[in-house]
Amino acid sequence: MSKKRVLVTGAAGKVGKVVVDDLLSHGYDIFAVDRDFKEDPGVPHMTAELTNFGEALDALSSTGVDVYGRAEMNAFDAIVHLASIPHPREVSDADTFSNNMVATYNIFESAKRLGINNIVWSSSETLLGIPFEQSKIEAVPVTEDVKKYGSSTYAITKVLGEELAEQFCLHNPEMKIACLRLSNVMEDEDYKQFPDYQKDPNKRLWNLWSYIDVRDAAQSIRKAVETEFKGMDTFIITNDDTVMDTSSEELVKEYYPNLKINGELTENQTLLSNEKAKRILGYQPQHSWREFV
Ligand SMILES: NC(=O)c1ccc[n+]([C@@H]2O[C@H](COP(=O)([O-])OP(=O)(O)OC[C@H]3O[C@@H](n4cnc5c(N)ncnc54)[C@H](O)[C@@H]3O)[C@@H](O)[C@H]2O)c1
Repeated sequence: MSKKRVLVTGAAGKVGKVVVDDLLSHGYDIFAVDRDFKEDPGVPHMTAELTNFGEALDALSSTGVDVYGRAEMNAFDAIVHLASIPHPREVSDADTFSNNMVATYNIFESAKRLGINNIVWSSSETLLGIPFEQSKIEAVPVTEDVKKYGSSTYAITKVLGEELAEQFCLHNPEMKIACLRLSNVMEDEDYKQFPDYQKDPNKRLWNLWSYIDVRDAAQSIRKAVETEFKGMDTFIITNDDTVMDTSSEELVKEYYPNLKINGELTENQTLLSNEKAKRILGYQPQHSWREFV
C-alpha cells in the first residue's frame, strides 16, 4: 500500500519543521510548502506565496509523475495548513489580516476544488480571550465552548478562520477541518526563560500560564490528521502542566480571585483544558518543560 501523502504549509516555520519530521517518522510522504525556505527541507517542496490563489491551487494539485519522470505522486490525503503570520503586531495589522485570511481562504478553497477533505489548521489560544486579565471568562479550566473574543487583529484572523472553516464544512458535508487552538509554542531554547517566570507570575498572566511544547504540538497535528470525523471542530492544545511551580489553585486564587474553579485542580494542571483533544484525538502530551530546565 502506498504511503499517505500530506501537504504541510508553513513548513519552514517553528511548528512546520517539527511537524514535517514528526509526520515523516510516522510513515507519511510529505510535500512541504512555504514562501521562504531558508534551508533545504530535505523533502519534496515548493516555494509558493499562498495569498496568490494560483500558487495555492498549483501547490495543492502537485500530482502525477514529477518533471524528472521519477515518482508517481498521488493526490494529497490531507493538508496541514500552518502558514501564517504567527503573532500580533509582528507586521502591520492590515498585513496580518490580509496575509492570514487570504492564505487560509485560498487553502480551503483549493482543497474543496480538488476534493481534499482532510484539513488540519492551526488556530490559536488567542481567540479564547487573551489577555485573560481583560476577558470575560467566568471559570477555569477554560474549555472550547467559551465565546470567541479576538482582542488583536491576529486573534481576529483566528476567529474568522474558524468561521471560514465552518462555512466550508457546511457546504461540503464530506469535508473535515480540525482547528487546533495551539497555546504559546515552546522549543528547547524557550525553556531557558522559564526560571524567570517563577519570580514573577505576572509575566504569564495573559495566557493563564499555559504553553505547548513544539513536539507535542506536532503530535496533536498528526493525531488530528488521523482522527476521522466530518465537519469543523475545535480543540485546545496545551501541555498538561502550567509554566509555573506555584500550584494552579494558588495562582487562580491570588491573580484571578473572581474566577470560579470547576472541579478540582491537580498541582500544576493547565488552566486551558486539553481534555477534549485527549478524548477525541487521542492526544497525549509527552514533553513537560520540567525535563529541560
Ligand atoms: N508560535 C506560537 O506560539 C503559536 C501559537 C498559536 C498558534 N500558532 C499558529 O501556528 C502556525 C505556525 O506558527 P509558527 O510559530 O511556526 O510560525 P512561523 O512564523 O515560525 O512559521 C510560519 C511560516 O509560514 C510561512 N508563511 C506565512 N505566510 C505565508 C504565505 N502567505 N505564503 C506562504 N508561506 C507563508 C512563513 O514563511 C513561515 O515559514 C501559525 O498559524 C500560527 O498562527 C503559533
